[in-house]
Amino acid sequence: MIVKPKIRGFICTSAHPDGCRAQVDAMIRMLEQRLPIVGPKRVLVIGASTGYGLATRAAAAFGAGAATLGVCYERPGSERRTATAGWYNTQALEAQATKRGLYARTINADAFSQETKQQVIDTLRRDLGPVDLVVYSLAAPRRQEADGSISTSVIKPVGSPYYGKTLDLTTNEVRDIRVEPATDEEIAATVRVMGGDDWAAWIDCLADAGLLAPNATTLAYSYVGPSLTFAIYRDGTIGRAKDDLEHTAACLRERYAGLRLNARVAVAKAVVTQASAAIPSVPLYITLLFAVMKRQGSHEGTAEQMFRLLSEHVYGPLGRLDDAGRYRVDDLELDPAVQHDVIARWQRVTSDNIRQLADIEGYWQDFHRLFGFGIDGVDYDRDIDLLAENHYPGSSLGADLEERTDSD
Ligand code: NAI
Repeated sequence: MIVKPKIRGFICTSAHPDGCRAQVDAMIRMLEQRLPIVGPKRVLVIGASTGYGLATRAAAAFGAGAATLGVCYERPGSERRTATAGWYNTQALEAQATKRGLYARTINADAFSQETKQQVIDTLRRDLGPVDLVVYSLAAPRRQEADGSISTSVIKPVGSPYYGKTLDLTTNEVRDIRVEPATDEEIAATVRVMGGDDWAAWIDCLADAGLLAPNATTLAYSYVGPSLTFAIYRDGTIGRAKDDLEHTAACLRERYAGLRLNARVAVAKAVVTQASAAIPSVPLYITLLFAVMKRQGSHEGTAEQMFRLLSEHVYGPLGRLDDAGRYRVDDLELDPAVQHDVIARWQRVTSDNIRQLADIEGYWQDFHRLFGFGIDGVDYDRDIDLLAENHYPGSSLGADLEERTDSD
């Protein structure tokens, strides 16, 4: 099959295996050119296949030489459908780790379930022993609860409707939107999915099994952003979940004070990921932000951010926490000069001037790249056998599918 992007709004339902792997290889090359991080050695990343989780895993493995165990929820390819980008990304990361003699394995299963936690415990017991860094980077639309019911997260304001500008990703036009406030049930469900409950469950599980090393760090990711998006993000349903993560971090530090656990929320900058594309107004803000930060020379992607988080803050000389006890690598985004310019552009931006004021091309380039499209040097005319791509040399992901296919 010739694999092409199949984009509907903020969703792309295809991914290019060669493009995804080329992207991960490039990320690894960039990380290896930097000074090594004197940091973690055994790392568990929950939500490890795309976005900030993938970047943290890469920074820990290729920046600090850490053994990494990843958890993600990705779909392998079928005869007519490509695998998800995270599947190909993970294969590429594992293959590069294997080449360097670094341990990297991935468990592709629902992180919310107790069975997955047990599988991770068993794997750590067998392969690695206690971990010294646990990263919780899940961005999930829903959570299957132990009783089989489903909690669904929503992105809505709390209390009153949100009126704002947004970018219509099907037409690249700027539109006004109104989003009705969430109900109490929707707020509670969003906190169930994106709050700290499952993060804490993971840490409890690891500690109970004796697999949390003394002085370990655990990080969960958050976003603060500008006042422009407060009503829909920070003061909305997702902000409630982020508040809950912060509360959980404090509880975990207290609960595991005996192990001296450094449980922290780390605040990162806005980037194009599958999760951020779904938030009203945020893609428009990102296009304006990128235009300003690229002009200023301070633009960063996920890998630069996570390298900086580990090398400068968590394991480095800065190690600064804000008043709420969080690590911050969104400092360049929230720089007053950057925000002043972004706000001025936000006030003026319309469908007619968006290409002058915003980095629409950069947004779409990043979006396509998330799925392995638009990468230099990749042969997009190659005829791809999607089932054969499910297992990649040097990667454990898909090996069981291959065995199943062989024995069928
Ligand atoms: P993403 O969509 O790129 O990655 C989500 C990851 O979670 C993937 O590895 C996916 O496989 C995994 N996942 C989803 N559901 C799962 C499940 N049930 N079981 C196992 N794995 C599952 O997301 P992104 O944007 O990297 O977000 C990660 C964290 O970073 C979130 O907490 C987000 O709020 C935060 N963040 C994101 C920013 C952005 O601009 N994208 C900015 C600052 C923070």
